Amino acid sequence: MENLVEQLYGNRNLPNNQLKALLSTNSYDQDLFAAADTIRQRHYGRDVYIRGLIEISNYCQHDCYYCGIRCGNGELERYRLTQEEILACCKEGYRLGFRTFVMQSGDDPYFTDDVMCELITVIKREHGDCAITLSLGERSRGSYQALFNAGADRYLLRHETANCAHYAQLHPKDMQPDTRKKCLCYLKDIGFQVGSGFMVGSPYQTLENIIEDLRFLQELQPDMIGIGPFLSHKDTPMCDFPNGDLALTLRLISVLRMMFPHALIPATTALGTLDRNGRELGLRAGANVVMPNLSPRRVRKQYALYDNKIATGEEAAESRTRLETRVKSAGYEVVTARGDVRRV
Ligand code: 5AD
Repeated sequence: MENLVEQLYGNRNLPNNQLKALLSTNSYDQDLFAAADTIRQRHYGRDVYIRGLIEISNYCQHDCYYCGIRCGNGELERYRLTQEEILACCKEGYRLGFRTFVMQSGDDPYFTDDVMCELITVIKREHGDCAITLSLGERSRGSYQALFNAGADRYLLRHETANCAHYAQLHPKDMQPDTRKKCLCYLKDIGFQVGSGFMVGSPYQTLENIIEDLRFLQELQPDMIGIGPFLSHKDTPMCDFPNGDLALTLRLISVLRMMFPHALIPATTALGTLDRNGRELGLRAGANVVMPNLSPRRVRKQYALYDNKIATGEEAAESRTRLETRVKSAGYEVVTARGDVRRV
């Protein structure tokens, strides 16, 4: 096993069957988690970077079969934050020690380039020492360029699955698997720090699909990689599929850390929703980012990608001290820093 883990470190060519062996049994878990933790400490020490997540809108023009905010979900009450509300979130976040703001929404046409660029400009004027991360879905190259020119630093866009047939099982026909990949190339090319990723245990996903996701990430070489378990949502066509597996998600975090030593890898809200200690376990398996929720409390439950989303406990930005205690208990340290990628 030691041998396997050593081969995995920063290596592009661990054969598929060996990757499969690591992922499909729990016999290597402790070694794998420990090795990933060593690598993470080599590159990032014990630092845990925090990002203030602001869910600016739950409108979405897409209809992804797994997602609770899909446009076909008529049960959901929709909201959109105003510029004033978003700026108030940033102000509060800054006071709490956040130096990255992540603005995330469904694919909402209301947030045109003009609206977003104005917002980015004002945030950068008020908080010049902060990084801005956007997660607004698929847009044109010109649009990404405008957002970058306005001052946005990073962009998160999960590819969801690298396998075309699997992509078609998760998305309606008007969504093409290549669009995301093309968007990710634009984003990299423009100069964003780019994040991608996928769900673990999404409906119909096979271990082979996961290997394809890892290979796709090797091609893309993203700065951030977000993975979390699939969690079913009652008002979606995929409501009856089982949730993703905790142990597999943790193993994958470790494998990602070994393969992408420099990556910023969050212990996601979905992981914290699946298991109450999910995020600490994620940190111990190699993750080094947490993204507490800075959205106004009244909208947090409405940004429901899946059922039972945690919203007001330690994952909430205002509970920073409690979060710090938890992170410390896992053996790490929350830091107030932009937390840019370290590519050295
Ligand atoms: N369970 C887990 N993650 C989900 N996402 C969307 N719906 C779900 C779900 N039901 C993830 C997708 C998306 C990200 C913002 O949230 O991967 O890219």
